[in-house]
Amino acid sequence: MKNKFNSLQLNNKNLVLIGFSGSGKTIIGKTISELYKLPFIDTDISIQISQNLSIHDIFRKFGEEHFRNLEAEICKELPKKQNTIISIGGGTILSPQNAYFLQQNSIIVYLKSSPEQIYKNLKYDDSRPLLNTSNKLATITKLLEERTDIYEEYSDICISSVNKSPLLVALQIQKSIS
Ligand code: S3P
Repeated sequence: MKNKFNSLQLNNKNLVLIGFSGSGKTIIGKTISELYKLPFIDTDISIQISQNLSIHDIFRKFGEEHFRNLEAEICKELPKKQNTIISIGGGTILSPQNAYFLQQNSIIVYLKSSPEQIYKNLKYDDSRPLLNTSNKLATITKLLEERTDIYEEYSDICISSVNKSPLLVALQIQKSIS
């Protein structure tokens, strides 16, 4: 029989991971999904598969607005899911309409990180178009500052991912939900 330590009781809700790029949403989402045998959706991956293009190329060919429309389409579908681990792009919850859909039937976890840690994680990664500037650390610092209140406002649970393994964060999330 499962006990409260080896299962994740979502009671048919979804677990939505939010936070800035490089805070570990995808790897932590995958880890939770593997640990507790639950389905996993990463909205950025779903968009790239459906468009057969990288996010970098979607921005380059069609612009950010087009990408945001694709995000909005996916968000509308998410409340139909149950017991699913969902990680979303760092900018997804900034849209009030997306936030509305993301809040339906879900527990929202904010993976909090620091500009320095995010920079360390993304220093050699050019797949995030908004961060490909001449001063990546300054851009991260500015965007994170602009977004922190929104991430905090919508989250049910806030957990720092700084200097932690994905497994440790996954277990801390499980503990805070049990
Ligand atoms: C974005 C974050 C990215 C991706 C796109 C825009 C943002 O997702 O959706 O590059 O606005 O912060 P990750 O948070 O998975 O990097």
